[in-house]
Amino acid sequence: MNAHGQPPDQLDRRSYLTRVAAIAVGGIISVIAPVAGLFTFLDPLRKKADARGLVRIGSIHSLPHNGEPRKLPVIAEMVDAWNKTPDVPIGSVYVQKTGENTVRVLNAVCPHLGCSVGYSAAKSGYFCPCHRSSFSLDGKILDPRSPSPRGMDELHAEVKANGDVWVQFQNFRKGTADKIPV
Ligand code: FES
Repeated sequence: MNAHGQPPDQLDRRSYLTRVAAIAVGGIISVIAPVAGLFTFLDPLRKKADARGLVRIGSIHSLPHNGEPRKLPVIAEMVDAWNKTPDVPIGSVYVQKTGENTVRVLNAVCPHLGCSVGYSAAKSGYFCPCHRSSFSLDGKILDPRSPSPRGMDELHAEVKANGDVWVQFQNFRKGTADKIPV
């Protein structure tokens, strides 16, 4: 008999089984964790959007009729191997009403080196404070001395029947003349 009032071999068998179970669980975790981490690395964060990758950013009814752009955040649900996080800001865009049911959406990031581009109503254009690139309202390079190798990145957008504006949000490689998705 031992201190627990049990025969020694019964206690030994129980502690042996406990140890085997702990090793098995530890082994399973040590296999699952790197595999999950690998998937997270290969596909780090996925934006939850509709089936075609469109994210709702607002309503056309809230945009000025004179075509003045509004800067809007792009909010999406992010999903990784472990978590589902709602309402994560993934970028921002300038949205302009260009017609009764049409909009122009530009990524608000400068294609030169990624600074946030500002809008000037007085100059009717966009200006990057970092290295002075300037862009017209349709996103084209305004001043030819602008260091940006391309105009602002226009994004595919759709206006639904109820006026909701949906955008296919995408970032592109900085510093290249070509628009290369990243
Ligand atoms: Fe905009 Fe350089 S980052 S001009």
